[in-house]
Amino acid sequence: MIETLRSVLHFRRFELDAVERRLATAANVDDVRRIARRQTPRGVFDYIDGAAEDERTMEANAGAFARLSFRPRILRDVSAVEPATTLLGRPLPIPLVLAPTGFTRIADPEGELAVARAAERAGLPYTLSTLATRSIEDVATANGEGRRWFQVYVWRDRGLVEDMIERAALARYEALVLTVDTAVLGRRERDVRRGFTLPPKIGLDTIVDGILHPGWTWKFVRSEPIRFANVAGSGPGDGTDAVSLADFVSSQFDPSVSWKDLDWLRSVWKGPIVLKGIQTVEDALLAADAGVEAIALSNHGGRQLDGAPAALDLVAPVVDAVGDHVEIICDGGVRRGSDIVKAVALGATACMAGRAYLYGLAAGGERGVDHVLGLLDADVRRTMALLGAATLADLGPELLDQTTD
Ligand code: GLV
Repeated sequence: MIETLRSVLHFRRFELDAVERRLATAANVDDVRRIARRQTPRGVFDYIDGAAEDERTMEANAGAFARLSFRPRILRDVSAVEPATTLLGRPLPIPLVLAPTGFTRIADPEGELAVARAAERAGLPYTLSTLATRSIEDVATANGEGRRWFQVYVWRDRGLVEDMIERAALARYEALVLTVDTAVLGRRERDVRRGFTLPPKIGLDTIVDGILHPGWTWKFVRSEPIRFANVAGSGPGDGTDAVSLADFVSSQFDPSVSWKDLDWLRSVWKGPIVLKGIQTVEDALLAADAGVEAIALSNHGGRQLDGAPAALDLVAPVVDAVGDHVEIICDGGVRRGSDIVKAVALGATACMAGRAYLYGLAAGGERGVDHVLGLLDADVRRTMALLGAATLADLGPELLDQTTD
């Protein structure tokens, strides 16, 4: 009996490192999200996790992936699966780009530096947001030889944008991502209810929230103040004082921006341009006519216009319309490698994901981002093997089915 017991009883070595211990229990991005939720104050988590109004578009993004099922083919020699591809003329190990996210340091004080380092290790492009909390130059140093893109909004003060673009060019950012879905900020009602500001304010309610999340609070109060690192000092509402993001956007962003501003952008940026926030075939055609190198089908993770279409549902019609002229990135709702495989099978060149890595950052800092990128990489390879696709060229719409419910 002792022998039998000995053969079945195996105790795992107790992991002393709390971050490793937490991450070891996260088998997928949803698990990482649950850890992030436990680790961060509710206001911070809801800013990251939430979306506009009834959050229908955010749900639609995820729902579109869930409704697509696979038609796996068998006996197709998948002994060597290779998910590598190219985007903007340069190689990518898997078809994934890290999306720009504002105010990343609220998830972890290292913020964008941690994400840029993890992206370099994974060989994936990292897109730094204009609303970043680390500078263009510091992120470039952290990202080393990695691929980095810089995201811009069109500010009322065009000089400010030109300045940032010049800095991005000097710091060897490869592409400019112009986000065009933010004429005004979407109404994120979780943030409205909490009176959430950026940087987060410490009030009575937030003190309680902070006490309930001592790890986050300790890191937050010990680190330098969080602010918009690339526009601080540029005037009122530069992120130095706590503001609601909605007020900040309406005071700083130019809602009169139109297609003609692309010519201006071309005159100040010589590299490739990715137009992010395309939500119809008509605008995809206009973007192709305007000569951008890539478009990102995106509803800002459901954070802008609630009721906008799921990004994935736009892939096939947009590929049909402009796939020969521009590269197509699908952004919104990516939580698994199988989501990436589905988008590519429909004709997308790559996906973008933002929340997925932010959950990682909030759950375990830089190691949390590594963990999420590792999960997505392994998922893509496993899904392709099970689907009978050894390369991305083997993926096509014939491997997909719409599940009707
Ligand atoms: C910023 O871009 C946000 O969506 O909060």
